Amino acid sequence: MIRVLDKSFEVFITKEEIQQEISSLAGKINADYHDRDLVFLSVLNGAFMFTSDLMKKITLDCEVSFVKMSSYSGVDSRGQVDELIGLGNNISGRDIIIVEDIVDSGITIDKIITLLGPEGAASVKVCTLLYKPDAFKGKKRPDYVGFSIPNAFVVGYGLDYDQKGRNLDTIYQIREQKKQRNSMLNIVLFGPPGAGKGTQSERLIEQYGLIHLSTGDIFRANIKGQTELGVLAKTFIDKGQLVPDEVTIKMLKAEVSKHTNPKGFIFDGFPRTIAQAEALDVFLESIGASITSMISLDVAEDELKSRLAHRAKTSGRPDDANPEVIQNRINVYRNETAPVKDFYKSQDKWLMIDGVGTIDEITTRLFTTVDAL
Ligand code: IMP
Repeated sequence: MIRVLDKSFEVFITKEEIQQEISSLAGKINADYHDRDLVFLSVLNGAFMFTSDLMKKITLDCEVSFVKMSSYSGVDSRGQVDELIGLGNNISGRDIIIVEDIVDSGITIDKIITLLGPEGAASVKVCTLLYKPDAFKGKKRPDYVGFSIPNAFVVGYGLDYDQKGRNLDTIYQIREQKKQRNSMLNIVLFGPPGAGKGTQSERLIEQYGLIHLSTGDIFRANIKGQTELGVLAKTFIDKGQLVPDEVTIKMLKAEVSKHTNPKGFIFDGFPRTIAQAEALDVFLESIGASITSMISLDVAEDELKSRLAHRAKTSGRPDDANPEVIQNRINVYRNETAPVKDFYKSQDKWLMIDGVGTIDEITTRLFTTVDAL
């Protein structure tokens, strides 16, 4: 799986499959246009990569030109004028193959063919790598089609998502949105320092529309806003004591009730004790919800230490640089989470994700796990 901007995509057509299909398309064109005066008109931007690979397999004596469709506001009846930029004077009496990366609604191709009309080509055919028959509502169906694909957004191999992803050598399809849940998705996310919990929770929040609840943030907001609970919490924090569970859970309740119809929550840094986990269960039950799962990101200690040492070089955080401090933070994490982990394990809600790999690999594992919940 890959990310392009804010969306996730999964492999749809591999580079090998693309190349194989291009060879077969080129074979057909080579046979059909033997001894003809052929000009390929490649439509920028998307078709640049397909055109490049296709041309390497065309054995005919032909020409290749690049055109670009442009629409600007003009004074015709529709208020829109279409223009084909880059079209020379070399069309008349010649055989044309328009090369497209994708034919979707077919509107672009119809416009190009209309614009080519006065040029007096001997013939005009369309070769496209991808074709979405279910989306097509145009007049001119493509003559040479690499792959007929379902009506889902694709990216890569020249095709973009908001101008990104054109350089990918594989074609990716947008990842299906998760199936509709009929209950809230409430996740307790745990991970030792350096496990990538921050990055992964951001992605979970975005993918599943969750609300992030960090007790640290809630404390700070309440203290800053001088709420009754904030003032109370501050008295403990100022004495260097832990805020009692009762106060913490009250703040959390207040925070949860701010949201109407939430899709779910990610609990970050909470619950830290069995008492908190129990109190959270009671509270969620009172609003007709429950914890869906506690997910731990698993990373071996040696890997954590080397990641934190690496991060220290750029983060400037002194607590990342000192091996003793790092060891202590890891120990605290393990001791602290062990009982909470056992609590959720006993409810059959504890899951562990391998936290070693690229950020995208770990996201894929997480999404796959969450989708199955
Ligand atoms: P048309 O709907 O056939 O006119 O296609 C218009 C343009 O939409 C194409 O040339 C592409 O630039 C873009 N397009 C259509 N479907 C996709 C897709 O799935 N991914 C990326 N671009 C697309």
